[in-house]
Amino acid sequence: MNSIRELLSHHGLPGDSGRLEAEVLLCHCLDKPRSYLYSHGEQPVCPEQASAYESMLAERRAGQPVAYLVGQREFWSLALAVNEHTLIPRPETETLVMWALELPLPTNAAVADWGTGSGAIALALASERPHWQLAASDASAAALDVADLNRRRLGLTVRLLQSDWGAAFAAGSLDLVASNPPYVAEGDPHLEAGDLLFEPNAALVSGRDGLDAIRRIIEDAVPVLKPGGWLLLEHGYDQAAAVRGLLQAAGFSQLASRTDLAGIERISGGCLV
Ligand SMILES: C[S@@+](CC[C@H](N)C(=O)[O-])C[C@H]1O[C@@H](n2cnc3c(N)ncnc32)[C@H](O)[C@@H]1O
Repeated sequence: MNSIRELLSHHGLPGDSGRLEAEVLLCHCLDKPRSYLYSHGEQPVCPEQASAYESMLAERRAGQPVAYLVGQREFWSLALAVNEHTLIPRPETETLVMWALELPLPTNAAVADWGTGSGAIALALASERPHWQLAASDASAAALDVADLNRRRLGLTVRLLQSDWGAAFAAGSLDLVASNPPYVAEGDPHLEAGDLLFEPNAALVSGRDGLDAIRRIIEDAVPVLKPGGWLLLEHGYDQAAAVRGLLQAAGFSQLASRTDLAGIERISGGCLV
């Protein structure tokens, strides 16, 4: 039987993150935290667990995202279940959550996360603002199943509904719409690399310029927001000016964009007066 240290030293995963990914996969197979790998490096690993780990390494070498292999990704310090029907939540989306939490909204604000996927944005907001009335919607029933699992595991109160963007929401009912929609242009070469190859197309791609969903969301949000309501949108690295332009044309004011950790404008929003 190989020890933990031996199994980790022959992971064969490429890049700077290879060793870390191997550790995450081995922790998953052993059902132990990462600290265990260091405190029990000489511990032999039983053949069943070693074989499960080797199969996962092979799938990872073939490109399968680590989050799909272990079935979860951390977002806003919440362990969220993910699968092939959901986008893997990204750190830049936490910038949108932070902005939403800073808005001058009523204590019992009515807030919706459109295109919720695993439930990431809505559940992060629910964990911080238990008095907000949160709704999370998606066109994908399979994604909503994952959001439902996360909602139940975390014990958070969020209403889930299937909806084509704003279609299921009543006029003048919301104080805030937050959305991380699909925003990659059709044929973008990034779609052929990394995790994007394995994520659902409907979560990523949105028309020739990547802005089809954003145009729809802005159009749908106008009647659904209350006067003074806010719309916050995540978008691509080169779309901030275009999104602010679309928001302005639809009557939004107080337009602004927020940057991600790399200093790139990735979230834009405004207030409907
Ligand atoms: C980029 S993913 C974001 C998922 C999640 N909010 C996150 O940040 O991890 C976009 C989501 O929009 C959903 N979506 C695509 N088209 C939609 C539509 N017409 N109406 C509602 N949701 C849609 C997809 O199913 C996907 O879950």
